[in-house]
Amino acid sequence: MSNEEIPDAELDGESGAKRIKVDEEAPGNVKCEVVGIPDESSQKISKRQMKKMQKREKWLQRKPEKRAKEKAKLKEKKLHAKLNNINLGPTVRELKNNTMEKSNCKIHVVIDLSFDDYMNSKGLSKCVKQILRCYSLNRRAKNPMQLHVTSFSGKSKEEMSKNTGYENWDLFFHEEDYLKVFKKEDITYLSSESENVITYLEDKVYVIGGLVDHNSQKGLCHRIAQDSNIHHGQLPIGEFLEMKTRKVLTIDHVFEILLGVSEGKTWKDAFLAVLPSRKGAVQKEDNSLQEDEGDVMQEEVNSVQEYGNSIQKDLEGAGQKGCAGILESVQEDIDDNKNKIDV
Ligand SMILES: C[S@@+](CC[C@H](N)C(=O)[O-])C[C@H]1O[C@@H](n2cnc3c(N)ncnc32)[C@H](O)[C@@H]1O
Repeated sequence: MSNEEIPDAELDGESGAKRIKVDEEAPGNVKCEVVGIPDESSQKISKRQMKKMQKREKWLQRKPEKRAKEKAKLKEKKLHAKLNNINLGPTVRELKNNTMEKSNCKIHVVIDLSFDDYMNSKGLSKCVKQILRCYSLNRRAKNPMQLHVTSFSGKSKEEMSKNTGYENWDLFFHEEDYLKVFKKEDITYLSSESENVITYLEDKVYVIGGLVDHNSQKGLCHRIAQDSNIHHGQLPIGEFLEMKTRKVLTIDHVFEILLGVSEGKTWKDAFLAVLPSRKGAVQKEDNSLQEDEGDVMQEEVNSVQEYGNSIQKDLEGAGQKGCAGILESVQEDIDDNKNKIDV
């Protein structure tokens, strides 16, 4: 094969060549390594490598056309949404303003990254990808949760570093353990093995184990919480759904359910929106009472939190309004909420 046939990314300088390595654990990851100026013998490449290069070349050729099609489709979608009054979610400008600092939601969710040694490279990569999804969901939320990553060092930090600019993300990265960042009494360690069932979310700290283990470490997070005397709890899946498979969820699914509930969804709706169909989640027939109790409780907590946030805002506006103005608007809020909340 001549150099003209080799795509740019595979070339080093004018006539340099790169050796292509396929990661056994993640065959999608192709690594390139410079091996020097090719001579006749080093230009020999395997059939598999050749196919890969041809595939990449085709992809590069089709890229501009695909991008143009995507752009046109997006334009059409926006126009259709505008004409039909459909909300397409937050704009890029709005997203920039949706920061954790400005959020009304003060629920803290921690992803505990102290399990590097329990995962192989594939597990680590999946774990980081799930964190990226949590981050992306949080950024798109109207009121993002306070998202933290703790024990952020070592292998998982290395894996995260593949995402350039991650340091600037609206996410709290801590090298320390979550016990050094939060008060122990505010923490609930989430675990499907916990005997405690969470019925509502409070403005406290919920820790998700940053572990992708395909169940090889069954009950590990539960044991850690018990040994450290930390409160633990499982999501109330069993209260609302019949599951064909076990109730162990991925990091991003747990996060998405918490986010849904923090936004005012009922537990049942949050589960049904997130759980993949292969988990076989089916709504329970005979739990109308439990369901009502759990959901009403969460609605009340959301409502009280909303009320607290509105007072907080009033207090923050003290400088502009003066005390009389604040008292007036607090009174208005009290009147508005009097009939809604019974605590
Ligand atoms: C893939 S699971 C890890 C399972 C692991 N064997 C363990 O010991 O927890 C990732 C994390 O999601 C959370 N999680 C998964 N399913 C859950 C459930 N049903 N209730 C509460 N938390 C759950 C836990 O924090 C768990 O550590």
